[in-house]
Amino acid sequence: MKIQDDPHPKPSCKKVYDHDKIELLIKNYDASLNEWKRYQYWNPKEEYTRNLIATDNKHFTLMLLCWNPKMGSPIHNHSGCDCFMRIIKGEIIETRYVYPKDDKFHKKIVEAGSVDDGKWSGLDVIQESKLVEGDVRWINDMMGVHKMENEHEVEGSVTMHCYIPPYAVCHTFEKKKDGKMEIEESEMSYATEHGNIK
Ligand SMILES: [Fe+2]
Repeated sequence: MKIQDDPHPKPSCKKVYDHDKIELLIKNYDASLNEWKRYQYWNPKEEYTRNLIATDNKHFTLMLLCWNPKMGSPIHNHSGCDCFMRIIKGEIIETRYVYPKDDKFHKKIVEAGSVDDGKWSGLDVIQESKLVEGDVRWINDMMGVHKMENEHEVEGSVTMHCYIPPYAVCHTFEKKKDGKMEIEESEMSYATEHGNIK
């Protein structure tokens, strides 16, 4: 297991761009035109695929995620970026958790790579939401960490995500069967870029 460099929550960049404008743009995106379909890519061997639509590698990254039925993401942070998400097709259950801010907690996981005192009972849930087509949400480290799941038995779900600014690495939080929590670095990778399989 890789020990993370810095899993602390990082401040939002919300003040340096027009947050409301971006949110409105994403809300107003007309998914019925089906433009997004040329970026969708499904891989039954993966929980979900990340598909790059556009990025300038500096200010933003726009991507389409295709979630297989009964699949989801691990709990993860957003490495100081603001993440907007729009449900394009299907439904997603989003669960948000309090970002573990306790310094001792962090010192321990940074040093050991896991919490091993057996007392960890999971991150505290802030809210669980059922998101449906057209819904838009946003999150950053100051607001917590989250996971997303497609709970449908047979139907895939599609979400569009805009990250401001782009990020290369995030951290995932996972409770192992032995009760320990592991935090790992997860590198951003794509199944397709600009509609082309990598
Ligand atoms: Fe996320």
